[in-house]
Amino acid sequence: MAYLNVEFIQNLIAEIQSSRINTSEELEVFRLKYLSKKGLIAQLFEDFKNVSGEKKKELGKPLNELKKLAEKIFDDAKNSIAAASLAENKGEDYTRPAGLLPVGSRHPVSQMIEEIVEIFSRIGFSVMDGPEIEDDWHNFTALNFPPEHPARDMQDTFFVTKNPDIALRTHTSNVQVRAMESMKPPIRILAPGRVYRNEAISARSHCFFHQIEGLYIDKKVSFADLKQTLLYFTESFFGKSNIRMRPSYFPFTEPSAEVDVYWGMNNEVDYRITKGTGWLEILGCGMVDPNVLKACGIDPEVYSGFAFGIGIERIAMNRYQIPDIRMLSENDMRFLKQF
Ligand code: PHE
Repeated sequence: MAYLNVEFIQNLIAEIQSSRINTSEELEVFRLKYLSKKGLIAQLFEDFKNVSGEKKKELGKPLNELKKLAEKIFDDAKNSIAAASLAENKGEDYTRPAGLLPVGSRHPVSQMIEEIVEIFSRIGFSVMDGPEIEDDWHNFTALNFPPEHPARDMQDTFFVTKNPDIALRTHTSNVQVRAMESMKPPIRILAPGRVYRNEAISARSHCFFHQIEGLYIDKKVSFADLKQTLLYFTESFFGKSNIRMRPSYFPFTEPSAEVDVYWGMNNEVDYRITKGTGWLEILGCGMVDPNVLKACGIDPEVYSGFAFGIGIERIAMNRYQIPDIRMLSENDMRFLKQF
């Protein structure tokens, strides 16, 4: 009661006006002191009830001013503190759960490799890796390529150095040599990977592509084993059980063959896929040449074996009806999202 006079109120107004509120703690101190139920202003209003009518006239106006001012200062400070903390966090709520990242999908070439590896792993083949930058011995010489064979030519091979000859491997058959040099028969390996050839780029061929090499070396491995293994593969992969082997030539296999799977000729798509023959060419293969076994330190009188090489891009193009091999390496998201 003793406080309730005009001078006291005006002092309070001055005090409030000069108060500095920069943090939420200071804001709370201000609120408790002036605006809470037991704060100064509430007390003054309590006292105000008991003053005489005359005094009420005198005190009413400054008391209301005091209250309004305190509320305004409180609200302004509260808003600017909130704005400052928002600016500090750049408007982000760092406690909210993260959004989902797009998971992507496997590249069709990887999908084909995975599927083929899975099929051969069921009959005991395991995966082996080999270098993409290879020396002449592992890419050519040990594989029985004659010294002047055109595949060694600058037109076909990307040489990294000449003398000694180091090149980007032209096929995955280099892993055959590395397997036979480093393992004892029985050997049953698959070697998927990238290969390089100095070829004109077109819808059907590229200067790099992928192959899967297969190699089986043991006692008494025969051509019948090769054919049965490939039949198992084509049945598992294509769901087709009719294959044919056409005589072919590779320096490192003898005899050599190219394998076609019978696709059928029932409609226009079949016609396009098989170029009007009904047959789809899928791989090259043959019995490992005794010269190769010898070069790799395996006795051809005791051991024999077969090898095959599958071109992955061709199989992916066939599986997904991809019209141009270049689509597989352009990394266009609109293309890749479809797999
Ligand atoms: N390396 C051969 C090629 O690139 C394919 C092949 C592999 C053929 C194994 C026979 C045996 O064309």
